[in-house]
Amino acid sequence: MASRRDFLTLSAATVLGELIALPGGTGRCAEPVENEPLQKRLVADPHRPRCHLMPPANWMNDPNGPVFWNGQYHMFYQYNPNGAFPESMHWGHAVSPDMVHWKHLPTALAPTPGGPDKDGCWSGCAVVAGRVPTIVYTGVFPQVQCLARSDDGMMSWRKFVGNPVIAVPPQGMETMGFRDPCVWHEADEWFLGLGSGIKGQGGMVLLYRSTDLIHWDYLHLLCRGRKEELLPGKDPVSTGEMWECPDFFPLAGKHTLLVSTQGAVIYSVGSYVNHYFRPEVQGKADLGGCYYAARSMVDEKRRRILWGWIKEGRSDAAQRAAGWAGVMSLPRVLTLGPDGTLGMAPAPEIEALRGKHLRFENLPIAPGSSPLLKGVRGDSLEIHAEIEPGASETVGLKVRTAPGGEEETLVTYSRISGRLLVERERSSLSRDVDRGSQGGPFALAPGETLKLHIFLDASVIEIFANDRACLTSRIYPSRPDSLGLGAFARGGKARLKALDVWEMRPISPDRLTT
Ligand code: FRU
Repeated sequence: MASRRDFLTLSAATVLGELIALPGGTGRCAEPVENEPLQKRLVADPHRPRCHLMPPANWMNDPNGPVFWNGQYHMFYQYNPNGAFPESMHWGHAVSPDMVHWKHLPTALAPTPGGPDKDGCWSGCAVVAGRVPTIVYTGVFPQVQCLARSDDGMMSWRKFVGNPVIAVPPQGMETMGFRDPCVWHEADEWFLGLGSGIKGQGGMVLLYRSTDLIHWDYLHLLCRGRKEELLPGKDPVSTGEMWECPDFFPLAGKHTLLVSTQGAVIYSVGSYVNHYFRPEVQGKADLGGCYYAARSMVDEKRRRILWGWIKEGRSDAAQRAAGWAGVMSLPRVLTLGPDGTLGMAPAPEIEALRGKHLRFENLPIAPGSSPLLKGVRGDSLEIHAEIEPGASETVGLKVRTAPGGEEETLVTYSRISGRLLVERERSSLSRDVDRGSQGGPFALAPGETLKLHIFLDASVIEIFANDRACLTSRIYPSRPDSLGLGAFARGGKARLKALDVWEMRPISPDRLTT
């Protein structure tokens, strides 16, 4: 076993020193943004979410090591303190009593000059070994696996002096990547799944075993992709030759593997026997193109909760200019559907943000005319609608609609094509933002109503359909009056059985400090 002396302390002084030297002087995560022009811009930015976890400024991507420990939720995430672009990855850190309201803590991990993570502390996980919180993450370059521990309740982290704990891929294996450890405890041993893949073959998860989290033996492939599933693409992740961010866990008597590849989070539900995972049912955890690198945790009530990185839908230059990029998704409760697919619903804890409420009942939806619902305006709304599709071919809601319809975003279910879509063509008058439709297969059973649970938060839209499909997207309306909400139908009449809408309260008064 390693002793305390084997771990280097990432002291507050180091963190502060590194951050003070940064251009922009944004200060530590735990403190307000100190650069006044940037702070003003962030507060005034109509596209910056107010109800989602994100760093006070700068870039974030993957959720890392979400964990419930000592009565609190800890969330780490890939973070660049130098600006709104993906470089020099640190681990940002926030803590919450309820998965909804967050307080920023000092950066947990920063690259150590000359160390195995000198070029970045990439994604990984957090586990509590005995009583010791431990982070297992990827150091770059080359990609190696490293360890850090905390003795003070996760306030600071000491890197293991013997890092890396896994230095090279298994002998004879020419991998296209070797990263993003996911660790779990099973029958008194630790297991680690690592994202990897082989050129021309497909993505895979390498399986390791350890008794102390330090010495790891390679066992075999936990699971591998199939050649036939590869897509044309410019890099191994877009083709599917490389799987990023594996997450592996038991769920309702089966096992679930998540991997991020080909621009999406792919889930497989299957059986786990003799340390081999055999997928039986597969799908996408999200039908939009903006949700990635998802990681799960077990919450206080023993539910399996999923978090994901919500990517931006605008140019790198626009992200840098805004001074922030990337948002953490709202927490999703995972369940197993009767057909073996993954069920997903927003965690009820989010209801804590509900403010003013309006309810509409039993409204006809005629094709061709779709008046806006009276009295509803907002860019921070929770919407719960139940719609009878009736004779319509396509039915849905329109959100962020300008009074004259100059801008609007449609959330649609098409009975004809069996798809759930977010139609963004007219979501913004700006030419600089993504406006393509996003979505995927979704079908209602005969007689089933369409239940849309939508969270609008500035440029983020998260859609849950009938608690079994999710679609996360980004919209950047340019008009300040693009705030209306309505229902619409095409090809036949439908009915809005009921619609509840709540204003959502911001998770912090100024969104910058807590
Ligand atoms: C996924 C990913 C991971 C990597 C991290 C780097 O988005 O590419 O594979 O560890 O981001 O920030």
